[in-house]
Amino acid sequence: MNIDRNAPVGVFDSGIGGLTVAREIMRNLPSEKIVYFGDTARVPYGSKSKDTVLRYSRQIVHFLKNQGVKAIVVACNTASALALGDIKKELDIPIIGVIDAGAKVAAAETKNKKIGVIGTVATIDSGIHERVLKELCPQVQVIGKACPLFCPLVEEGWLHDDVTTKVAERYLEELKVCGIDTLILGCTHYPLIRSTIREVMGENVRLVNPAYETALELRDLLSELDLTGQENAQEEFPYRFYVSDLAEKFTDFANSILPYDVSMTQKIDIEKY
Ligand code: DGL
Repeated sequence: MNIDRNAPVGVFDSGIGGLTVAREIMRNLPSEKIVYFGDTARVPYGSKSKDTVLRYSRQIVHFLKNQGVKAIVVACNTASALALGDIKKELDIPIIGVIDAGAKVAAAETKNKKIGVIGTVATIDSGIHERVLKELCPQVQVIGKACPLFCPLVEEGWLHDDVTTKVAERYLEELKVCGIDTLILGCTHYPLIRSTIREVMGENVRLVNPAYETALELRDLLSELDLTGQENAQEEFPYRFYVSDLAEKFTDFANSILPYDVSMTQKIDIEKY
């Protein structure tokens, strides 16, 4: 199949959280265009079954392919955990998720071989990090902890707040007791409360941000496949945003975290795909 190297990259998430991944792509791959889809009508994915998340993800991939993307980044950790394996087999363009890149860095950097992973209930219950990490480093001990209250706290804007610190202390206590030296922030929202997590875990625990690591993996993948966008192909509006609901709220959030002025988000009917 002939893929246009100047086509946009498709990035999708269950909602706004995947903007942390889009942000890293904007920062680290400035010559790439992006079509972002946030499934704001059906969020959260983290409390849903594999069948449901797979069905949603297939629809979104179909939509993104209709937009002519050259590659897809599943920015959502839950969709990466539950749907990426199946979708990869069905797709004729490159697709990556956010699990592998973070796991690779964590396996390479842990000294005491004790790695913590935090994420949604579905991501942690899937056991995907443990499987990937043990393949990379069989001696590693992986301690997973679901932190479902973090997402609503971030969406409420309580990034630096006593309540968020208290919740973090409670969730992270058992990871501290286990003596992990590396912690994977296995959910799109968590990089936004990184400083709170840092404060609770202390300076000696390495925090791995899969959003950043995935952007670098995308850069390497596009370069390997000769699909890197050319700088001069960059347009005036290189980033397009679509959601399944609440477009204005999405635009406001996007403008609060992106290094780019989002003027408009378009609402689409994802059930049609
Ligand atoms: N984007 C999801 C993830 O990274 C978190 C929000 C949700 O539960 O849908 O797992």
